[in-house]
Amino acid sequence: MFEKFKKTNKKPVSISEEEIVKGSIPNHIAIIMDGNGRWAKKRSLPRTAGHHEGMKVVKRVTKLASRLGVKTLTVYAFSTENWKRPEDEVNYLLRLPQEFLGTFLPELIEENVRVRIMGNKEAIPAHTQKAVDKAVHDTKHNTGLVLNFALNYGGRAEILDAVNHILLDYQEGNLHKKIDEDVFDQYLMSAGLQDPDLLIRTSGEIRLSNFMLWQLAYTEFWFTDVLWPDFKEKHLLEAIHAYQKRGRRFGGV
Ligand code: IPE
Ligand code: IPE
Ligand code: MG
Repeated sequence: MFEKFKKTNKKPVSISEEEIVKGSIPNHIAIIMDGNGRWAKKRSLPRTAGHHEGMKVVKRVTKLASRLGVKTLTVYAFSTENWKRPEDEVNYLLRLPQEFLGTFLPELIEENVRVRIMGNKEAIPAHTQKAVDKAVHDTKHNTGLVLNFALNYGGRAEILDAVNHILLDYQEGNLHKKIDEDVFDQYLMSAGLQDPDLLIRTSGEIRLSNFMLWQLAYTEFWFTDVLWPDFKEKHLLEAIHAYQKRGRRFGGV
């Protein structure tokens, strides 16, 4: 259950998980988890404390998404631009997947979750790569929610990688058809996943920050001022409830 204020009288209205599942559930939800640093700063804690708290939120949100029947949950964990941060913070952020999977992998397996990764894996530390590869391997036969980590991911880099890969295939004589959207999709790091239906960004920032530029073409956006470490199950229900009230036209009438 969560509290929602009616515009008219500010009285809380409750919307339950049961009510939400009666409506259409977005197949793919993508989240730009933002505001960890500000959350920590408000508490006079180091920024890394915010990232640690944020990791716990990923666990809770994954469980709820899985319960609701969401097919794919993509979470933006580290962008190609996040290398600009202080070295300590970068190191901490790139160690987090290992910690997350170290404690949560057995539960993910139990929940039938399949772990996927998109981003430039080569540049991330070996220990993180190992943890991620293990999670992908150990969950590859699972048939439930796909938990897709965008790690060292950038939308522009992804598109350029795809273009370069296409050029290479063409030069090697392995490409005999025109590139249409479906073919291009297969060259992206999200190959095989449907485009996101709903994008959530926390912390009040209203921008994409290089996230899934191709795939978000017709996605519904939902922004909230809530900082990621404060994001609760009720906020996900609120976002989906807002999504359910939208009219998606895809250019039609
Ligand atoms: C999101 O929180 C986590 C990552 C970008 C990795 P931030 O660290 O960006 O937090 P703010 O935006 O500085 O508050
Ligand atoms: C986007 O957040 C990246 C992730 C959430 C991983 P940032 O905090 O890095 O984005 P900007 O710098 O505010 O655009
Ligand atoms: Mg930020």
